Amino acid sequence: PEIIIVKDEAEAGELYARCVADLIKAKPDAVLGLATGSSPLAAYQALAKVVKEEAIDVSQVRGFALDEYLGLPLTHPESYHQTIHRTVVEPLGLDPDKVHVPGDVLDGCPIEDGAKVAGAGAAYDAAIEAAGGIDVQILGIGTDGHIGFNEPGSSLASGTRVKTLAEQTRIDNARFFDNDIDQVPMHCITQGIGTIMKARHLVLLAFGSGKAEAIAETCEGGVSAFCPASALQMHPHATIIVDEAAASRLR
Ligand code: F6R
Repeated sequence: PEIIIVKDEAEAGELYARCVADLIKAKPDAVLGLATGSSPLAAYQALAKVVKEEAIDVSQVRGFALDEYLGLPLTHPESYHQTIHRTVVEPLGLDPDKVHVPGDVLDGCPIEDGAKVAGAGAAYDAAIEAAGGIDVQILGIGTDGHIGFNEPGSSLASGTRVKTLAEQTRIDNARFFDNDIDQVPMHCITQGIGTIMKARHLVLLAFGSGKAEAIAETCEGGVSAFCPASALQMHPHATIIVDEAAASRLR
Protein backbone atom coordinates (compact mmCIF):
# COMPACT_ATOMS: atom_id res chain seq x y z
CA PRO A 1 0.00 0.00 0.00
CA GLU A 2 0.90 3.64 -0.38
CA ILE A 3 1.82 5.08 3.05
CA ILE A 4 1.49 8.80 3.78
CA ILE A 5 2.82 10.21 7.04
CA VAL A 6 1.06 13.41 8.09
CA LYS A 7 1.45 15.88 10.94
CA ASP A 8 -1.98 15.30 12.47
CA GLU A 9 -5.57 14.13 11.98
CA ALA A 10 -6.55 17.45 10.42
CA GLU A 11 -3.97 17.05 7.63
CA ALA A 12 -5.11 13.45 7.03
CA GLY A 13 -8.70 14.68 6.93
CA GLU A 14 -7.84 17.25 4.27
CA LEU A 15 -6.26 14.57 2.05
CA TYR A 16 -9.38 12.40 2.35
CA ALA A 17 -11.67 15.37 1.77
CA ARG A 18 -9.83 16.45 -1.42
CA CYS A 19 -9.93 12.93 -2.80
CA VAL A 20 -13.64 12.44 -2.11
CA ALA A 21 -14.66 15.95 -3.19
CA ASP A 22 -12.95 15.44 -6.58
CA LEU A 23 -14.63 12.04 -6.88
CA ILE A 24 -18.11 13.50 -6.26
CA LYS A 25 -17.49 16.29 -8.78
CA ALA A 26 -16.61 13.66 -11.40
CA LYS A 27 -19.27 11.16 -10.27
CA PRO A 28 -22.21 12.83 -8.47
CA ASP A 29 -23.69 9.49 -7.37
CA ALA A 30 -20.38 8.22 -5.94
CA VAL A 31 -20.61 5.34 -3.47
CA LEU A 32 -18.78 5.99 -0.19
CA GLY A 33 -17.80 3.28 2.28
CA LEU A 34 -18.20 4.69 5.81
CA ALA A 35 -16.67 3.80 9.17
CA THR A 36 -17.54 4.76 12.73
CA GLY A 37 -15.03 5.22 15.58
CA SER A 38 -12.79 8.19 16.28
CA SER A 39 -10.24 7.86 13.44
CA PRO A 40 -12.45 9.17 10.58
CA LEU A 41 -14.07 12.08 12.45
CA ALA A 42 -11.63 14.77 11.29
CA ALA A 43 -11.95 13.44 7.74
CA TYR A 44 -15.75 13.78 7.80
CA GLN A 45 -15.42 17.30 9.21
CA ALA A 46 -12.93 18.28 6.49
CA LEU A 47 -15.19 16.83 3.80
CA ALA A 48 -18.21 18.69 5.17
CA LYS A 49 -16.17 21.92 5.00
CA VAL A 50 -15.06 21.37 1.39
CA VAL A 51 -18.59 20.41 0.32
CA LYS A 52 -19.85 23.69 1.75
CA GLU A 53 -17.01 25.90 0.47
CA GLU A 54 -17.11 24.50 -3.06
CA ALA A 55 -20.92 24.15 -3.10
CA ILE A 56 -20.67 20.50 -4.19
CA ASP A 57 -24.00 18.80 -4.91
CA VAL A 58 -24.10 15.68 -2.71
CA SER A 59 -27.80 14.91 -3.19
CA GLN A 60 -27.05 11.77 -5.25
CA VAL A 61 -24.15 10.44 -3.12
CA ARG A 62 -24.69 6.95 -1.72
CA GLY A 63 -23.12 5.39 1.37
CA PHE A 64 -22.60 1.98 2.95
CA ALA A 65 -21.34 1.65 6.53
CA LEU A 66 -18.93 -1.09 7.57
CA ASP A 67 -20.67 -2.55 10.57
CA GLU A 68 -23.34 -2.46 13.26
CA TYR A 69 -24.01 -3.97 16.68
CA LEU A 70 -26.56 -6.73 16.86
CA GLY A 71 -29.29 -6.40 19.47
CA LEU A 72 -29.39 -2.58 19.71
CA PRO A 73 -32.49 -0.89 18.33
CA LEU A 74 -31.78 1.60 15.51
CA THR A 75 -32.94 4.39 17.84
CA HIS A 76 -30.18 3.62 20.41
CA PRO A 77 -27.75 6.60 20.42
CA GLU A 78 -24.74 4.26 20.17
CA SER A 79 -26.11 2.17 17.32
CA TYR A 80 -23.96 2.73 14.25
CA HIS A 81 -27.14 3.70 12.41
CA GLN A 82 -27.40 6.75 14.71
CA THR A 83 -23.63 7.33 14.79
CA ILE A 84 -23.34 7.45 10.99
CA HIS A 85 -26.35 9.77 10.88
CA ARG A 86 -24.79 12.15 13.45
CA THR A 87 -21.23 12.17 12.10
CA VAL A 88 -21.75 11.84 8.33
CA VAL A 89 -25.30 12.20 7.00
CA GLU A 90 -26.17 15.39 8.89
CA PRO A 91 -22.87 17.32 8.61
CA LEU A 92 -22.51 16.50 4.89
CA GLY A 93 -26.18 16.95 4.11
CA LEU A 94 -26.54 13.51 2.49
CA ASP A 95 -29.92 11.98 1.62
CA PRO A 96 -30.55 9.58 4.56
CA ASP A 97 -32.42 7.19 2.26
CA LYS A 98 -29.22 6.69 0.25
CA VAL A 99 -27.04 5.76 3.25
CA HIS A 100 -27.15 2.17 4.50
CA VAL A 101 -25.91 0.45 7.65
CA PRO A 102 -25.70 -3.37 7.74
CA GLY A 103 -28.04 -3.75 10.74
CA ASP A 104 -30.81 -1.59 9.24
CA VAL A 105 -32.98 -4.57 8.30
CA LEU A 106 -32.38 -6.23 11.69
CA ASP A 107 -33.30 -3.25 13.89
CA GLY A 108 -32.29 -4.57 17.29
CA CYS A 109 -33.35 -8.17 16.75
CA PRO A 110 -31.30 -10.60 18.88
CA ILE A 111 -28.94 -13.16 17.33
CA GLU A 112 -31.35 -15.88 18.46
CA ASP A 113 -33.77 -14.69 15.79
CA GLY A 114 -31.94 -16.89 13.29
CA ALA A 115 -34.45 -16.63 10.48
CA LYS A 116 -34.13 -12.86 10.38
CA VAL A 117 -30.37 -12.74 10.89
CA ALA A 118 -29.56 -15.37 8.27
CA GLY A 119 -29.32 -13.74 4.88
CA ALA A 120 -28.88 -10.16 6.12
CA GLY A 121 -25.16 -10.24 5.29
CA ALA A 122 -25.56 -11.62 1.79
CA ALA A 123 -28.37 -9.12 1.14
CA TYR A 124 -26.05 -6.26 2.18
CA ASP A 125 -23.28 -7.45 -0.16
CA ALA A 126 -25.85 -7.74 -2.95
CA ALA A 127 -27.00 -4.14 -2.29
CA ILE A 128 -23.40 -2.90 -2.54
CA GLU A 129 -22.97 -4.79 -5.79
CA ALA A 130 -26.27 -3.43 -7.17
CA ALA A 131 -25.01 0.09 -6.41
CA GLY A 132 -22.00 -0.62 -8.63
CA GLY A 133 -19.55 -1.23 -5.77
CA ILE A 134 -17.87 1.15 -3.34
CA ASP A 135 -15.66 3.88 -4.82
CA VAL A 136 -13.77 4.95 -1.68
CA GLN A 137 -13.87 2.98 1.57
CA ILE A 138 -12.59 4.77 4.66
CA LEU A 139 -11.19 2.48 7.37
CA GLY A 140 -9.92 2.70 10.93
CA ILE A 141 -7.87 -0.10 12.48
CA GLY A 142 -8.17 -1.83 15.85
CA THR A 143 -5.14 -2.22 18.11
CA ASP A 144 -5.34 -5.92 17.21
CA GLY A 145 -5.34 -5.17 13.47
CA HIS A 146 -9.09 -5.54 12.93
CA ILE A 147 -10.88 -3.72 10.11
CA GLY A 148 -14.63 -3.40 10.34
CA PHE A 149 -15.39 -5.91 13.09
CA ASN A 150 -13.24 -8.56 11.43
CA GLU A 151 -11.23 -9.67 14.42
CA PRO A 152 -7.96 -11.66 14.12
CA GLY A 153 -8.72 -15.06 12.60
CA SER A 154 -11.43 -13.75 10.25
CA SER A 155 -11.31 -15.24 6.77
CA LEU A 156 -9.62 -12.91 4.29
CA ALA A 157 -12.30 -13.95 1.75
CA SER A 158 -15.29 -13.27 4.05
CA GLY A 159 -18.46 -11.51 3.00
CA THR A 160 -20.78 -9.50 5.26
CA ARG A 161 -21.90 -11.68 8.16
CA VAL A 162 -22.70 -11.88 11.86
CA LYS A 163 -19.71 -12.13 14.19
CA THR A 164 -18.99 -12.30 17.91
CA LEU A 165 -17.10 -9.27 19.23
CA ALA A 166 -13.69 -9.95 20.75
CA GLU A 167 -13.49 -9.34 24.50
CA GLN A 168 -10.84 -6.64 23.87
CA THR A 169 -13.13 -4.80 21.45
CA ARG A 170 -16.00 -4.87 23.99
CA ILE A 171 -13.60 -3.48 26.63
CA ASP A 172 -12.38 -0.78 24.17
CA ASN A 173 -15.97 0.19 23.29
CA ALA A 174 -17.33 0.21 26.86
CA ARG A 175 -16.40 3.93 26.84
CA PHE A 176 -19.52 4.51 24.74
CA PHE A 177 -21.74 2.56 27.17
CA ASP A 178 -21.21 4.27 30.57
CA ASN A 179 -17.96 2.25 30.92
CA ASP A 180 -20.16 -0.78 31.57
CA ILE A 181 -19.05 -3.77 29.47
CA ASP A 182 -22.32 -5.57 30.22
CA GLN A 183 -24.14 -2.97 28.12
CA VAL A 184 -21.87 -3.59 25.09
CA PRO A 185 -23.54 -6.01 22.68
CA MET A 186 -21.92 -9.44 22.25
CA HIS A 187 -22.50 -9.66 18.50
CA CYS A 188 -22.29 -7.53 15.40
CA ILE A 189 -22.81 -7.63 11.66
CA THR A 190 -19.80 -6.50 9.63
CA GLN A 191 -18.68 -6.21 6.05
CA GLY A 192 -16.26 -9.07 5.48
CA ILE A 193 -12.63 -8.64 4.49
CA GLY A 194 -13.59 -9.91 1.03
CA THR A 195 -16.32 -7.23 0.87
CA ILE A 196 -13.90 -4.50 1.92
CA MET A 197 -11.31 -5.68 -0.65
CA LYS A 198 -13.83 -5.15 -3.47
CA ALA A 199 -13.91 -1.37 -2.90
CA ARG A 200 -11.98 0.41 -5.64
CA HIS A 201 -9.93 2.59 -3.26
CA LEU A 202 -9.22 1.92 0.43
CA VAL A 203 -8.15 4.77 2.73
CA LEU A 204 -7.05 3.58 6.17
CA LEU A 205 -6.46 6.19 8.88
CA ALA A 206 -4.53 5.55 12.10
CA PHE A 207 -3.29 7.97 14.75
CA GLY A 208 -1.36 7.61 17.99
CA SER A 209 1.21 5.18 19.35
CA GLY A 210 -1.50 2.69 20.33
CA LYS A 211 -1.86 1.86 16.62
CA ALA A 212 1.89 1.62 15.85
CA GLU A 213 2.17 -2.15 16.28
CA ALA A 214 -0.95 -2.84 14.18
CA ILE A 215 0.30 -0.50 11.42
CA ALA A 216 3.73 -2.18 11.29
CA GLU A 217 2.06 -5.60 11.11
CA THR A 218 -0.35 -4.35 8.42
CA CYS A 219 2.35 -2.88 6.18
CA GLU A 220 5.40 -5.04 6.83
CA GLY A 221 4.16 -8.30 8.37
CA GLY A 222 3.04 -11.32 6.39
CA VAL A 223 -0.44 -11.29 4.87
CA SER A 224 -2.43 -13.23 7.46
CA ALA A 225 -5.88 -13.54 9.01
CA PHE A 226 -4.16 -12.86 12.33
CA CYS A 227 -3.80 -9.24 11.21
CA PRO A 228 -6.94 -8.66 9.12
CA ALA A 229 -5.68 -5.26 7.88
CA SER A 230 -2.65 -6.98 6.28
CA ALA A 231 -5.05 -7.92 3.44
CA LEU A 232 -4.48 -4.33 2.23
CA GLN A 233 -1.10 -5.51 0.91
CA MET A 234 -3.07 -7.40 -1.75
CA HIS A 235 -5.25 -4.43 -2.78
CA PRO A 236 -4.39 -2.59 -6.01
CA HIS A 237 -5.21 0.86 -4.57
CA ALA A 238 -4.83 1.15 -0.80
CA THR A 239 -3.68 4.34 0.93
CA ILE A 240 -2.63 4.29 4.57
CA ILE A 241 -2.51 7.71 6.23
CA VAL A 242 -0.80 7.82 9.64
CA ASP A 243 0.73 10.33 12.01
CA GLU A 244 4.36 10.02 13.24
CA ALA A 245 3.29 8.10 16.35
CA ALA A 246 1.31 5.47 14.41
CA ALA A 247 4.23 5.21 11.93
CA SER A 248 6.84 4.80 14.67
CA ARG A 249 7.23 1.02 14.35
CA LEU A 250 7.67 1.01 10.56
CA ARG A 251 11.15 0.03 9.46
C1 F6R B 1 -15.68 1.20 12.84
C2 F6R B 1 -14.89 -0.03 12.72
C3 F6R B 1 -13.66 -0.32 13.54
C4 F6R B 1 -12.85 0.92 13.91
C5 F6R B 1 -11.64 0.53 14.75
C6 F6R B 1 -10.83 1.73 15.18
O1 F6R B 1 -16.82 1.16 11.99
O2 F6R B 1 -15.27 -0.84 11.93
O3 F6R B 1 -12.85 -1.22 12.81
O4 F6R B 1 -12.45 1.56 12.74
O5 F6R B 1 -12.06 -0.18 15.88
O6 F6R B 1 -11.59 2.54 16.03
P1 F6R B 1 -11.11 4.01 16.41
O7 F6R B 1 -11.06 4.79 15.15
O8 F6R B 1 -12.16 4.53 17.34
O9 F6R B 1 -9.75 3.86 17.04
